[in-house]
Amino acid sequence: MKITFAEPRPPRSGTVVVPVGDERTLLATAKQLDEESGGALTRAMGASRFKGRGEESLAVLAPAHLDLSRVLLYGIGKEGGGERSAWQNRGGQILAQLNGAGETMATVMIDRAGPDEAAIAADFAYGAKLRSYRFDKYRTKEKPEQKPSLEELVIQIEDPAAAKRAFQPLEKIAEAVFFSRDLISEPANVIYPETLAAAARSLEKFGVEVEILDEVQMKKLGMNTLLGVGQGSVRPPRLVVLQWHGNRKAKNPAPIAFIGKGVTFDTGGISIKPAGGMEDMKWDMAGSGVVIGLIRALAARKAKVNAVGIAGLVENMPSGSAQRPGDIVVSMSGQTVEVLNTDAEGRLVLADALWYCQQRFKPQIMIDLATLTGAIIVALGSEHAGLFSNNDELADRLLAAGKQVGEKLWRMPLADGYDKMMDSDAADVKNIGGREAGSITAAQFLQRFVNGVTWAHLDIAGTTWSKKDAPTVPKGATAFGVRLLDRFVTDHYDE
Ligand code: BES
Ligand code: MN
Ligand code: ZN
Repeated sequence: MKITFAEPRPPRSGTVVVPVGDERTLLATAKQLDEESGGALTRAMGASRFKGRGEESLAVLAPAHLDLSRVLLYGIGKEGGGERSAWQNRGGQILAQLNGAGETMATVMIDRAGPDEAAIAADFAYGAKLRSYRFDKYRTKEKPEQKPSLEELVIQIEDPAAAKRAFQPLEKIAEAVFFSRDLISEPANVIYPETLAAAARSLEKFGVEVEILDEVQMKKLGMNTLLGVGQGSVRPPRLVVLQWHGNRKAKNPAPIAFIGKGVTFDTGGISIKPAGGMEDMKWDMAGSGVVIGLIRALAARKAKVNAVGIAGLVENMPSGSAQRPGDIVVSMSGQTVEVLNTDAEGRLVLADALWYCQQRFKPQIMIDLATLTGAIIVALGSEHAGLFSNNDELADRLLAAGKQVGEKLWRMPLADGYDKMMDSDAADVKNIGGREAGSITAAQFLQRFVNGVTWAHLDIAGTTWSKKDAPTVPKGATAFGVRLLDRFVTDHYDE
């Protein structure tokens, strides 16, 4: 689908998409169409429940004199359309409606005289673009009528050049979101540590510095908790290190760092998972997929920030060489870990990745993302991801960024009482805490590998994969975290 911006001129085909204010207030285009058609739009609204509220829409067959298929009225409500996210949602919802109707061409009117028209048009386009994502490369037998129909979306406004400028960085973010969604959607026979590392390598074309550590290098560094998870697989592990130097003259040269869990498939290992739903564990690398997509977004839009992305990539398999319950391993930090459950593997990967990140980069802040626990899905469902942090300011900033982009977080506690639940009788720490507070004890485990750095952990197990369509997120891989953290960087670090 092509999205363009153009100056107002009467559309010659397809659907024309037209705003209507609260209480069915006709704005410029709607008023004109209504007059030309002898009141057809007013009659159509009168025969429906459409009131012009912010989330409503009404499709009307185009009046006879027009060379169009439909007029699609969309409500903008009282507040002139609402926040940025409301316009993005509207763009996404209208795109889905046009595809549902089999339309191939649509022209959107914004009808907002004034300087914010361009920003609104860009947000509308961004929402439509985000919703247009589809992972269909393996669906080779699809008939044309099963595919999305819309080929072209033209947004008409007074200053199309300004809208194009406003859309540019948003389009880059959307492309990065699609990149993450693709990585997360791919099955585990296609995406495994080496191939995921190769995908990360492609960020070089955006000016990102890419390093890929292999097993020998990781062994030398003492990353035994990460390596232990991968030792049962024939696919060797990798550690990806991405550096985006967007601000070489920064007052504070220390980077901000993002670390992702990248378990390309999680069988549970010897503590094997039940068969039902195990296929979901192809997306247990989403933390890494999001970190890679985020660094791509920052580089592609040339964010003035120094950022590091680290992806710990392993496959968790049961085999003759797999780690056993009860094994004790020495982490890179020197702390010994008793592995009581080989299915609590994400935290083992992150323990070494976090330590490596701090030792090498001394970051100002560090944020990890991980599909870490089933327990966070029990607690928060798919509405919020779990947020854990040792710093209130960082936590508040992340909460605020999440609200702005519609990737919502809910803060969970960290406390000594939970930390004690991770004490081991045989080693410094054990990798499971017991039945209670499973997401919190997982976070406490991670915190034992945080060495005085300002840190946050996002447990995205419930928000990474969606079972139903949302306005800007079709069902499937969401790439939850890319837009949130891009926003967070823009708000606080992009100089
Ligand atoms: N990858 C899973 C967590 C998960 C579960 C993500 C469901 C998405 C959907 C993680 O590695 C895991 O297996 N966690 C265990 C921890 C337990 C053994 C302490 C869990 O949540 O059951
Ligand atoms: Mn697991
Ligand atoms: Zn896992």
